[in-house]
Amino acid sequence: MTTRGNGTLTKSKVIIWGVSGGIAIYKSLDMISTLKKLGHEIHVVMTANAVKMIQPVTFEAISQNPVLTDTFEEAMTHISLADRGDIFIIAPATYNIIGKIAHGIADDLLTTVASAVTCRKLMAPAMNTHMYENSILQKNLELLKENDYEIIAPDHGMLACGYEGTGRLRRVEDILNEIVGKENGIRKGLLVGKHVLITAGGTRERIDPVRFIGNFSSGKMGVQLAKACLDQEAEVTLVYGHVQTHLPQDIRCLHAESAQELLDVLTKEISKVDILIMAAAVGDYRVDQVQSHKIKKSNTLTLNLKKNPDLLKSLNQHKKKGQVFIGFAAESENMIDHAKAKLKEKNLDMIIANDITEEGIGFHSPDNRVTVLLPGGEPIPLPRMDKYSLSVELVKLIHKSFIGD
Ligand SMILES: Cc1cc2nc3c(=O)[nH]c(=O)nc-3n(C[C@H](O)[C@H](O)[C@H](O)COP(=O)(O)O)c2cc1C
Repeated sequence: MTTRGNGTLTKSKVIIWGVSGGIAIYKSLDMISTLKKLGHEIHVVMTANAVKMIQPVTFEAISQNPVLTDTFEEAMTHISLADRGDIFIIAPATYNIIGKIAHGIADDLLTTVASAVTCRKLMAPAMNTHMYENSILQKNLELLKENDYEIIAPDHGMLACGYEGTGRLRRVEDILNEIVGKENGIRKGLLVGKHVLITAGGTRERIDPVRFIGNFSSGKMGVQLAKACLDQEAEVTLVYGHVQTHLPQDIRCLHAESAQELLDVLTKEISKVDILIMAAAVGDYRVDQVQSHKIKKSNTLTLNLKKNPDLLKSLNQHKKKGQVFIGFAAESENMIDHAKAKLKEKNLDMIIANDITEEGIGFHSPDNRVTVLLPGGEPIPLPRMDKYSLSVELVKLIHKSFIGD
């Protein structure tokens, strides 16, 4: 249930998520997925018309809980569920569901749960502009407000029906912020107006046409950091080497295979960014001479290696006032001492250290445990958590240390 120590995250919430039959239904999947990653417990209740749009199994997979649709499937579910909820939200909320709940109708499971909840209640309407501006709907929203519903007003913009006007489901970041902003300390857009450049994955140094020198980095940490920065409204550029994770569709991604290629891309991009986060595992050495033909098998093979360029040293030459450079230190011994030395030597503004010998964290693992160091500051240990939740914590620390209110 509650995971995260150190006072930065609070108790996870039991959220009852009502889904009605609006075209914005697909956006609720995204929000539920984020809330789940933040450690909240989600129970989805769908109307029969919502089920015609997206199968309950999809919500089941995302929420990792059975999806409820029928009042009569299991006696008294509506009461037991309503009693457990900390937060009740309907998103998207149709013209129809708003009308029914405002007038006390309880003719399906969602409206019946609504009649029984005593916790915090939210409603995110989404519909065609004429439906939204209809005075009956407006009166119903007023009725809901009088009955302690927080209404997350829709946005103005292009609607799925082709109209331009008010009625579009509010941006998912805003809705998440309304629901759990306080609990997760995520206020709207912690990185708004900032351009963040993040590296992820491992570099590969060619030996010959079929062989390379690589490392075990999966890229998961860098990719989750990129997602967390995007969720906090940063403009994000992700430079990736070899990764074993999906690249986010909505982030600008650039590929670099070797350390030199990575340096070339970063040198080109660095002047445009406010924050650089070096989460990639960059190889220290490359072969002196890359062979153009496959090296034939022999009993022994000697490779002459030479040092790769020091990326941070090179990038520091281009560092502008106000830019923030953050590095990672993957250590197997004396983690804090080595990280402190790297912080100083590489002229970093923050270093995120992890012990790669610890079971169940680091390379390939979905979880990580890190200690953050700032110049002159005490080490800040963060508890073990999944890489997205950890990224959210790191974004909060970055905001607190370099951006402020
Ligand atoms: C493709 C499609 C999209 C719809 N989108 C919306 C919508 O965005 N908002 C809305 O209020 N109704 C929308 N409707 C109409 C509702 O589905 C309809 O009023 C239905 O009775 C709502 O049932 P429910 O509130 O029990 O889910 C849509 C219907 C269809 C077929």
